[in-house]
Amino acid sequence: SGLMIASLLAERIRKAIMAFEFHGVGHVTASFGVAEYREDETWESWLCRSDAALYAAKEGGRNRVVTDACGADEADEAELLDLAFLRLVWRSNYESGHALLDTQHRNLFEHANNLLIAVIGERPTDEVAPQIEALVADLLDHFRDEEAVFRSIGYSGADEHALTHQGLIDRAGELVANFTSGELALGDLFNFLAYDVVAKHMLSEDRKFFGQMQAIRDTAG
Ligand SMILES: [Fe+2]
Ligand SMILES: [Fe+2]
Repeated sequence: SGLMIASLLAERIRKAIMAFEFHGVGHVTASFGVAEYREDETWESWLCRSDAALYAAKEGGRNRVVTDACGADEADEAELLDLAFLRLVWRSNYESGHALLDTQHRNLFEHANNLLIAVIGERPTDEVAPQIEALVADLLDHFRDEEAVFRSIGYSGADEHALTHQGLIDRAGELVANFTSGELALGDLFNFLAYDVVAKHMLSEDRKFFGQMQAIRDTAG
C-alpha cells in the first residue's frame, strides 16, 4: 500500500492499542515509523528509512506515527483510501520458485494478516492464544523445512541462516510468554511477525538464498 494508507493504518492501530486495556498492565502506547518502498531501492535502504522514522516517533515523545518524508505520489494515494487494503499483500517477486517454501511463506503472511485483524478488533487474549500457538508451530515447521532445503542445495550461508532462525524462534518464545502473562501488547507481537519475521527475514534474508538457489537451478538446467 502507499504511504498515506500505511500511515492511516498505523494511526488506526496506534489508537486501537492506546484504547485497549491490557490485562494486568492497563493502557499502553506504541510508536510507528512509516516509509514507502521505492522501486529503485534495496530492502536494506527501505528498512533503514522506516527505522529512522520509528526512531523519530520515539524521540518525538512516543505514542505517535511518523512518516518518512521523501517519496509518495499523492495522486496514487487517493484510490488506495479503501480499508480493504488493511493487510499485507503477497507479490509475485516474493516467490522463490520452490513450491513448499512459497506456500509456507504465503501462509505466514496470512498469519500476520489474521493477527492484524485481531489487533484492530481488540480481540481478547484467550481468543487470540490458539491463533498464536498455530502461528508459532507453522513458523517452526517452516524454518526446519527451509533449513533442509538450503542444506540439500549446499547453500553457503546455511549455518548463518539457521542461527538467524534460532534467534527468531527464541524471540518468538519470549514474546509469546510475555503476551500470555499479560505483559506484552498483541500489537507488539504483530510488529515482531510483520517486521522482524516477514519484512526483515523473509523478504530480505531468505531472498539472498533464493538468488543462489535460482543460480544453481540455472546451472543444472
Ligand atoms: Fe523463510
Ligand atoms: Fe529463513
